[in-house]
Amino acid sequence: MEFKIASGNGLKGIVNLPGDKSISHRSIMCAALAEGETLINGFLRGEDCLATLNAFQQMGVDIQQDGDKIKVHGVGLHGLQKPKTDIYLGNSGTSMRLMSGLLAGQNFCSTLTGDLSLSTRPMMRIVEPLALMGANIQTNSSGTSPLEIQPTNRLLPITYSLPVASAQVKSCLMFAALYADGPVVIKETVQTRNHTELMFKKFGIQVEIESLSDTREIKIFPKAYISATEINIPADFSSAAFLILAALITPDSDLTLRNVGLNPSRTALLGVLKEMGADISISNSSDDYEPCGDLTIKSSRLKGISLNPLLIPNLIDELPVLFVAAALAEGKTSITGAAELRAKESDRLEAMASSLEKLGVTFKLFEDAIDIQGLNQNFYTSNASLPFKSAVINSFGDHRIAMASAVACTRAEGESVIQDTQNVVTSFPNFLDVSNKIGLDIRNN
Ligand code: S3P
Repeated sequence: MEFKIASGNGLKGIVNLPGDKSISHRSIMCAALAEGETLINGFLRGEDCLATLNAFQQMGVDIQQDGDKIKVHGVGLHGLQKPKTDIYLGNSGTSMRLMSGLLAGQNFCSTLTGDLSLSTRPMMRIVEPLALMGANIQTNSSGTSPLEIQPTNRLLPITYSLPVASAQVKSCLMFAALYADGPVVIKETVQTRNHTELMFKKFGIQVEIESLSDTREIKIFPKAYISATEINIPADFSSAAFLILAALITPDSDLTLRNVGLNPSRTALLGVLKEMGADISISNSSDDYEPCGDLTIKSSRLKGISLNPLLIPNLIDELPVLFVAAALAEGKTSITGAAELRAKESDRLEAMASSLEKLGVTFKLFEDAIDIQGLNQNFYTSNASLPFKSAVINSFGDHRIAMASAVACTRAEGESVIQDTQNVVTSFPNFLDVSNKIGLDIRNN
């Protein structure tokens, strides 16, 4: 599949976006392990979260679906059944890493597989700490999936310091902790997204969090059972980020995105864009178990910045968007400490560098960093010429590269094409509908 893109008009309107991907995964996992019926509102019907949902159906969990309303009849911590076949998780790293922890505590063996991209992603980062707990997981020789998870007699309570800032690794261990003999302590030096902590608390699991000067310690206390609840999922900030970018860089935009998840461990991009000069305001804030609110974005003139590398874990999925903002800003933007981008659905440093090159942007790429020279175009006035060259861009099958590049191309002279866009449905299934409704011109080719 391909996108064909023409320059768009000012983005206008008030729109609702699909649910948060990270929270949707966790809601299914916790609901399946709870006793009783959990109602989930606002579930993301993207391929990644559906892969998680299907996996639990394969393990005997009764799940009723009515659009984004999902009813899960939980089977309890020890009620999952051995799947009859391998569990295929498509493109979804979150499903594979979180479920590995959960499956390490079951009394049956299971095998997790994925698509070509998922089959090349590093899994030793979860296999090693799970092995310290006594889990028994085989990878292939390069430390990648398929993962074969064998039952073990007991899972030991460990204290583990995360060597990479990864919410997936932390959450994998938190799910394994539900089956451990005693409390598991996980230490992180930079806070990664805390959706699992918040979701566990919502399901009544005891989680103690201690913030010390240089570490955050998360202690999980195993329970005999967990109780069902009701979960409302806000819109995904990471999907919102593409439209935030589009509104900022298109003249005459005034766009409101409703009920967006605003968990501070996810929204560092907002502060960074504001520092760059973005006009973004928040209204109707609320905090059920996850903070959320409406975002209003107006076209803005941006200036380059030096990104604080400590913010990277809190905007990791939004970096492709930030690269495009930097490409249009006045002056240079430096992004350092971004090696983790190379371990995503694609090598996002290479992939975005390739997009920027085709768009006519000057940059310097390093092993874990990039300097982007902004085009400093008068893109914020409607009669200015368009800043980017039209381009044919390879998304490398990566949903976020496809969407960030597509938004960039709406500011290119002439028509552009993004190739290999099939995976946009993993996280933002109605990206085209929403984009075109608010004034962009992005079509399936
Ligand atoms: C996620 C954590 C992040 C993020 C991914 C979703 C999660 O991955 O990039 O899209 O839901 O826990 P890492 O843990 O690899 O940083």
